[in-house]
Amino acid sequence: MADKKAKLTVDGLDEALELPVYEGTVGPDVIDVRSLVAKGKFTYDPGFVSTASCESKITYIDGGAGILLHRGYPIEQLAENSDFLETSYLLLHGELPTQEEKDKFVNTITHHTMVHEQLAQFFKGFRRDAHPMAVMIGVVGALSAFYHDSLDINDARHREIAAHRLIAKMPTLAAMVYKYNIGQPFMYPRNDLGYSENFLHMMFNTPCEEKEVNPVLARAMDKIFLLHADHEQNASTSTVRMAGSTGANPYACIASGIAALWGPAHGGANEAVLRMLDEIGDETQIDKYLAKAKDKNDPFRLMGFGHRVYKSYDPRATVMKKTCDEVLAELGLEDDPQLKMAMKLEKIALEDEYFKSRGLYPNVDFYSGIILKAIGIPTELFTVIFATGRTPGWIAHWNEMLANDYRIARPRQLYTGYAKRDYPKK
Ligand code: CMC
Repeated sequence: MADKKAKLTVDGLDEALELPVYEGTVGPDVIDVRSLVAKGKFTYDPGFVSTASCESKITYIDGGAGILLHRGYPIEQLAENSDFLETSYLLLHGELPTQEEKDKFVNTITHHTMVHEQLAQFFKGFRRDAHPMAVMIGVVGALSAFYHDSLDINDARHREIAAHRLIAKMPTLAAMVYKYNIGQPFMYPRNDLGYSENFLHMMFNTPCEEKEVNPVLARAMDKIFLLHADHEQNASTSTVRMAGSTGANPYACIASGIAALWGPAHGGANEAVLRMLDEIGDETQIDKYLAKAKDKNDPFRLMGFGHRVYKSYDPRATVMKKTCDEVLAELGLEDDPQLKMAMKLEKIALEDEYFKSRGLYPNVDFYSGIILKAIGIPTELFTVIFATGRTPGWIAHWNEMLANDYRIARPRQLYTGYAKRDYPKK
């Protein structure tokens, strides 16, 4: 596998260490440092800035060039020609489905959207004003208690059933969280509706009044799910892999991914963008807040800007911006003052030397929050939408790991605490 080698000289070791270097299909070579432990050495890489934690065939990102490929297909082409469920199939199976395979997959997902009636009782244990992500972590984890028939993680068919159940039930649970928050009855999913249409139906219809879902909004919703479907080894996906490496069941693993996604540096950013826009208030305050974002002594950051990997632009943001324009035009919201301010903020930041020199561009969350707000999704639910979209990616990575050789994830550390010392004598 490795024709190339790297040589590492370490003070205190007699000989230079020869380390294998592996080439991926595209992207940087990786140096295999696994033999270091036998020499009593560890590598040090907090935040995994230079560390490949696994081998994967699912998603490739070239952050410098702004490229995102799922199973080789550019995200822009998938956004234009595919839909969320087809992209989910692609992530899970490695190839685009034939029409017959797609119909079967869509049918299977559609017929798994309903949740066990008993699960509805779980919601009552939460305060009505609980944060939707808190409820999602609880109810998705609780799914483990309902599917004893398919929890053998070493059985590929069981893993497939879990994947179908999770992708199918996430929008149902997301809508239930919202309905519980606002005190309306839960809406059952409808098998005659598409995935994203069904989600908007469960969100905004009531048993008293069932309106047709606006197809422009359903398409925008589907695009949001699709654009979030996977993003290689990000914090939540790595969390799912790490939890999965212990042999934990798929529902517990996805619940751990949801928990990791919640933070404002990751999926919580779409919610944080809207809160930031509220805080800025109006256009006259933009300069003040940009100065705060640039001040190292001020914790304020421009939410929806910057990315660990993308340093030129986020290709998802480009598609999202187009969808944003379509949704605002459909709803006649082009003149909404907050949205206008967001666009002005974006323009000023993009021309500012601080942001330019650091490669800080709007990321997917800058526009997704604006679209979701326009659709009528409450801010607190934004990260739940991200979690719903990311579920096929999480489950594809979990499945890829389990289908191949893996070991429990167990990082080491640079210990800088006390060496051994004795408990004081009394
Ligand atoms: N506002 C102001 N300054 C920033 C920002 C920002 N949003 N992001 C990065 N910087 C500065 C940072 O202070 C640092 O400056 P310096 O080199 O002078 O110390 C430099 O840019 C590099 O930033 P970093 O924190 O070292 O970069 P990172 O890769 O560790 O962090 C990030 C990436 C996404 C956590 C960060 O850019 C950020 O906090 N952005 C805002 C939150 C956000 O929008 N997150 C959503 C990411 S996209 C969705 C997802 O994939 O989860």
